[in-house]
Amino acid sequence: MKRIAVLTSGGDAPGMNAAIRAVVRTGISRGWEVYGVKLGYEGLISGKIFPMGARDVGGIIQRGGTVLGSARSLEFKTEEGQIKAIRNLNELGIDGLVVIGGNGSQTGSYALHQHGFPVVGIASTIDNDLYGSEITIGVDTALNISLEAIDRLKITASSHQRAFLIEVMGRGCGYLALMSALAGGAEMAVIPEVKITPDQIAERLRISYQKGKAHAIIVVAEGAEYNAEKLAAYFSEHRQRLGFDLRTTTLGHVQRGGSPSAFDRILASRLGAGATEALVRGESGVLTGLIKSEIVTTPLEVVVQNKKTVDPKLIELAEILD
Ligand code: F6P
Repeated sequence: MKRIAVLTSGGDAPGMNAAIRAVVRTGISRGWEVYGVKLGYEGLISGKIFPMGARDVGGIIQRGGTVLGSARSLEFKTEEGQIKAIRNLNELGIDGLVVIGGNGSQTGSYALHQHGFPVVGIASTIDNDLYGSEITIGVDTALNISLEAIDRLKITASSHQRAFLIEVMGRGCGYLALMSALAGGAEMAVIPEVKITPDQIAERLRISYQKGKAHAIIVVAEGAEYNAEKLAAYFSEHRQRLGFDLRTTTLGHVQRGGSPSAFDRILASRLGAGATEALVRGESGVLTGLIKSEIVTTPLEVVVQNKKTVDPKLIELAEILD
């Protein structure tokens, strides 16, 4: 293999740039040519593929987002789109691809692999819901951003004896909400993995109030059955059940825009180099991730067929420490 390409796909995650940098520089150190693809799979289909040198990735390690741009491509989900993408890669003589992204993006990598094109994925999503890596690029930074918000909101909540619903990202997964609650010392986390009714939440808040707490912080995952909007609507009708006056803050995409933490920069650099080395070894159809502190590869077939679950011990711990 002599020429490889790299793309970022799906929701951007702080640390993606460090991964791009590592792929480009590891590839060059192996004597290969490295190409970048603009706008994820969309760019692969429309041919936005260009050569990258070591200097092109200078000064990007500290930047959030992705210098390559990203997209959620509907066309790439079709067989026709995938074939167009492979044709464009073949025309440029590119014989391997690194895909930096989360679940949807790695489903795309698996499709390319099934068409016979060599591809290696890198685990990157703030949701941390990707099987094959204990932690994914962007999670640590996103968590630190929610913590900063929680710490600030706690101050104003205490001044006013209020409860706050703080909604964090995480489409189908409560990892970010649970870890934010644990690290932020919140009264509770509402996550998709644990069924809970608004009345049960109200009961927990009432207990906090009776314990004499000056505030109550509830971290809500956007993917929970009762997200912040639904809970706020419910509690505006049943305010008397809470004890506290209630306010809501939704963090949303703020969590994706940060400068990557040291942890994310190092993880992304290791995964970027690891994915490139996997292509050198002739591996294809695998995801590069971190398991027990080691960079390892897991077949994409296994990755896309499995769902990473939140550790029940952490759920228990958050409840004990509230
Ligand atoms: O997958 C990462 C993520 O940030 C989720 O937490 C969130 O639900 C989703 O992306 C938002 O996607 P978009 O940027 O397309 O609005």
